[in-house]
Amino acid sequence: MMRFKKLAVAMAAVMALSSLVIPAAAEEETQKIGISMPTQSLERWNRDGSYLDEQFQAAGYDTILTFSDNDSSQQVNDIQNMLADGVDILVVAAIDADSLNTVMDEASEVGVPVISYDRLISNDASAYYVTFALATVGAIQGQYIVDTLDLDNAGDNVYNIEITAGDPADNNAPYYYNGAMDILQPYIDSGVLNVVSGQIDFDSVATDQWNTQTALERAQNILASYYADGTQLDAWLCSNDSTALGVAQAIESDYAGDNTVIITGQDGDEANLANIMDGKQSMTVYKAVANEAVVTLSLVEAVLNGDTIDETLIENSDWDFECAYDNETYETSEGVVCPSFILTPTTVTIDNMQEELVDTGYYTVGDDGYLVAVG
Ligand code: BGC
Repeated sequence: MMRFKKLAVAMAAVMALSSLVIPAAAEEETQKIGISMPTQSLERWNRDGSYLDEQFQAAGYDTILTFSDNDSSQQVNDIQNMLADGVDILVVAAIDADSLNTVMDEASEVGVPVISYDRLISNDASAYYVTFALATVGAIQGQYIVDTLDLDNAGDNVYNIEITAGDPADNNAPYYYNGAMDILQPYIDSGVLNVVSGQIDFDSVATDQWNTQTALERAQNILASYYADGTQLDAWLCSNDSTALGVAQAIESDYAGDNTVIITGQDGDEANLANIMDGKQSMTVYKAVANEAVVTLSLVEAVLNGDTIDETLIENSDWDFECAYDNETYETSEGVVCPSFILTPTTVTIDNMQEELVDTGYYTVGDDGYLVAVG
């Protein structure tokens, strides 16, 4: 009898315990991350999307990943669906930040924080920002042109240059352009660099949606109008790889001069790395988006844990790459600073491609000898 009583007590204790455990387990419902990327038509966002998705899932989160075909109303819909789906946090690379205002307000209303990913969203719902040093990307491109043409020792030489910038709807595009122009403008002013087409200001050189075909057609027009008479073209500043691809193609097909035009880029898209190997593009500014995803994951974990967000996120990490905390530069509205985590871009040319891209594990060498992105 006594044994049965003991058993009954023990069972009751187990049941009481398990009834305690059930609500606790329910509280630990898997948290859901909404990842909104702009488009699959530009190479890097495919990589960003898959790195983010894989890393969040590996860390035990549910994810919703969307690409919005470079259509901002589609991106609004995608984000609204994520909110309806009950995401705990949003990671958004905006197509056109201005068009996201209403849906950002909706996120705020339901208390879902937003991380601006790569491109800052100017709305206070954007709680944090992760990106690469934007102006530095442009400065690296400008400095590459200055150094390669040895403009500081140009003497009486005049070098001809053209400029292609990014999408006016993308908050990043003017930063890249201004970063490069801060370096190049003094040489334009002193006459060492000559923009033969006269197309210099951002609006004249911008490329809607960073589209390769648009960049190609504008380059063809410039070459036909200003260089068909044999005028030498020395450099073409391109803000990124998708535009550089179009410019390189135009130079190949529509420029009669020798093929030593310096062309800059950004991202390390596979087609552009092939062009660098083939001597059709000079350099690219590489941004390891796998690391951008690593920083975003740590940041999201900290936000969801309710941790204080500051430089300690970096200090306590085991990251083997550079990242800076910036609590001054970027504002989501006047006077409202968006705490930011800023990664460092690197220059890639044919000379350091193996070391920077293959030895680091970001790319492998394909059967045809060209580089293939990992991930
Ligand atoms: C990104 C670049 C990219 C461009 C087009 C920018 O916002 O920072 O890395 O080349 O968008 O996709």
